[in-house]
Amino acid sequence: MELDLSSMMTDPALANNPWPVYAGLRDHAPAIAAPFSRSRSGTVVVLSRYADIRKALSSPELFEANGANEMGQQRPCIPLDIDPPNHAKYRKLLDPLFSPRAVRAMADETRAIAKELLAEVVQDGRTDFHAAFTVPFPCRVFLNVVGFPVKDLDRFLVWKDALVHGEDVAGSDDLNVLRELWKKTANELYAYFDKLLDRRIEDPADDLATRLVQAEVDGDPLTRNEMLDILFLQMAAGLDTVTATLDCVLTRLAKDPELQAAARSEPEKMRQIVEELLRIETPVSLVLRYATEDMVIHDVPIAKGDLVMLMLAAANNDDREFDNPETLDVDRNNTRHFAFGGGVHRCLGSHLARQELSIALEEIFATLGPFSIPEGEEVNFVPGIRTAHSLPLEWKASVTT
Ligand code: HEM
Repeated sequence: MELDLSSMMTDPALANNPWPVYAGLRDHAPAIAAPFSRSRSGTVVVLSRYADIRKALSSPELFEANGANEMGQQRPCIPLDIDPPNHAKYRKLLDPLFSPRAVRAMADETRAIAKELLAEVVQDGRTDFHAAFTVPFPCRVFLNVVGFPVKDLDRFLVWKDALVHGEDVAGSDDLNVLRELWKKTANELYAYFDKLLDRRIEDPADDLATRLVQAEVDGDPLTRNEMLDILFLQMAAGLDTVTATLDCVLTRLAKDPELQAAARSEPEKMRQIVEELLRIETPVSLVLRYATEDMVIHDVPIAKGDLVMLMLAAANNDDREFDNPETLDVDRNNTRHFAFGGGVHRCLGSHLARQELSIALEEIFATLGPFSIPEGEEVNFVPGIRTAHSLPLEWKASVTT
């Protein structure tokens, strides 16, 4: 089987309906090597079966992070680019800051942001929901968590797009062009974060920047670079991921009135539906690692230093692991899906993400009547982190008027 990686990464038809490709890979090429300019060795090996991906995620000694996600960082991002044993000390510091309890304390402000954004569009009856809600909502939550002023939202959106949608912003997928864009963006971001940390030393607040300034790891304060490397990753990890999940979930609900009615019927059902959609859609469809030694998987040789692409989305739809994986089954025990990754790098922000998703949907259901995609419009997705280009929605009447 030939693997055309560049079309897999860019073809909109594949991004809109990736499930046949996932099945083809799992069934006919569960490990497949291809040339890839973003791999340090020039080769990437793609794995797609659940069992192989579980093994790779839980074996960081064989599959290391080691800067596999290139986005202009000047030093390894913390904790994503850090491997065990050092990784654990950063998670020990960060996990309590994103625990269910810590996250609950952010719920009221998160809800207020959702209400404010919805109030701006409710009377219109129709809008591009991606631009009006699914992009600004997680960005506003992020600004709040980290401690940045809302007036900087537009600057953040520009920086975020350059980091995670570099190809669109630069109008090119030439790696040299992308590296220039990432470098410039990263420099601006580090400088911005640096000033914020200075301010928080003078003027502490109830936010992440202040907690980092005051934090200790094994009795020592964090260095300034460690604080910057944590903040840089927060920016890259916590924005588009939530946007993509909202885009995927809202599109499904808009196209399926019965499913939408079920999600509206009770909060518990809504959470189960979101969890199943996280599994089926897997908006963060892949993660990257480097092989630390030579090995062979499904007869395919993987050399030490090859990039390994773990197709989380293919694993989450693997019928070797999930019965009828394409069926949304709210009674399924699907707690073992990899939508938030797995192993030591499992998502730090999963509790915050789930809270953002629940609050967003609760407020959308409370504010807008049943919504759908307007006739003649369609939703097209970006591959990788599956955000929509735009999300045209219309609703007949608002619930509150
Ligand atoms: C629905 C939304 C989200 C999804 C689907 C998601 C998905 C993921 C996935 C798949 C990984 C694993 C990366 C890897 O193994 O290479 C990850 C890691 C991570 N996520 Fe999320 N994420 C979401 C929201 C967030 C939010 C809101 C934050 C902000 C706190 C966040 C912060 C992180 C961090 C810091 C890591 C790295 C953890 C580590 O290396 O130990 N994520 N996320």
